[in-house]
Amino acid sequence: MVLNTRLVFTILLAVLIGIVLLFIADVASQDEVMTFREHMHGHLDEVSAVKAGVVAGDLDAARRPATWLAEHEEPPGMPEAWAPYVEELRRHARVAADAADLEMAAVAVSEIARTCGECHRATGFDVAFGYDQRPPVDVQNLTTQMQRHLWAADRMWDALIGPSDNAWRWGTEMLAEVKLSPEQFGGDTKAQAAMERLSELGRQGSLVTSGPARAGLYGEFLAQCAACHGVTGGGPGNY
Ligand code: HEC
Ligand code: HEC
Repeated sequence: MVLNTRLVFTILLAVLIGIVLLFIADVASQDEVMTFREHMHGHLDEVSAVKAGVVAGDLDAARRPATWLAEHEEPPGMPEAWAPYVEELRRHARVAADAADLEMAAVAVSEIARTCGECHRATGFDVAFGYDQRPPVDVQNLTTQMQRHLWAADRMWDALIGPSDNAWRWGTEMLAEVKLSPEQFGGDTKAQAAMERLSELGRQGSLVTSGPARAGLYGEFLAQCAACHGVTGGGPGNY
């Protein structure tokens, strides 16, 4: 009888320990999910900083966040199957960090965004951005048209990362709509060429459907923003 009580007690204890262990494991995996999420926001901040540097025509500003993306470690608990995406992301980030010019950095940062989008598609996770935010109202002055450019750039960017076909369509349609007359930016011929190319990229872009083709187009697009800010001395200040 004494022996039986002891046996029952031991079994109960074992079950109790088992429950506690399961609970700890669950909390730990929830922690992993949280750190992974936070880590993803880190990705977004850094890759957005690379892009902002490119748009502003500031290659040095793009290098630091690109280096972080190339060298950072993924948090623990990431499935092995995702590793190739991380590898690819690091490879493009290294190209951006070492880029000899803005065009090269522009292409590399677009490739990074495409890789983000491919992993999200593969893991079945859509990153929800505010895709349907309203664009700045169409007022005919340089600042407003630039804000419309920026809106287009941001939607196309969200489209690569999400990924999202709707965001791509909105962004490219807006890009094709932005209008400036040469007097508005001092009549420089390079600036004029950049404006024309941008409208054309908007029109072409709305027909482009594959990830790689979109990333290629986006790279050229960012390089045009950078080139015109370079010749006009304009551009987003500390954006
Ligand atoms: C290895 C695959 C992979 C790569 C590469 C990847 N992501 Fe993610 N990302 C995920 C997964 C999976 C989630 C969903 C995480 C969750 O909420 O459980 C996610 C979620 C996110 C989220 C939403 C986080 C939240 O609040 O839920 C953002 C933002 C994000 N990723 C941005 C990026 C950016 C930017 C890049 C590229 C620089 C990137 N990701 C690259 C797999 C990846
Ligand atoms: C035709 C030349 C030209 C092109 C092309 C161009 N920009 Fe600009 N951008 C300027 C000039 C000039 C300014 C300064 C305007 C001002 O001071 O109001 C400017 C300013 C800006 C600003 C700051 C606006 C503000 O709120 O003060 C942003 C943001 C911007 N550009 C984004 C972009 C993006 C994104 C692209 C590419 C899609 C782009 N620009 C393409 C010439 C250009």
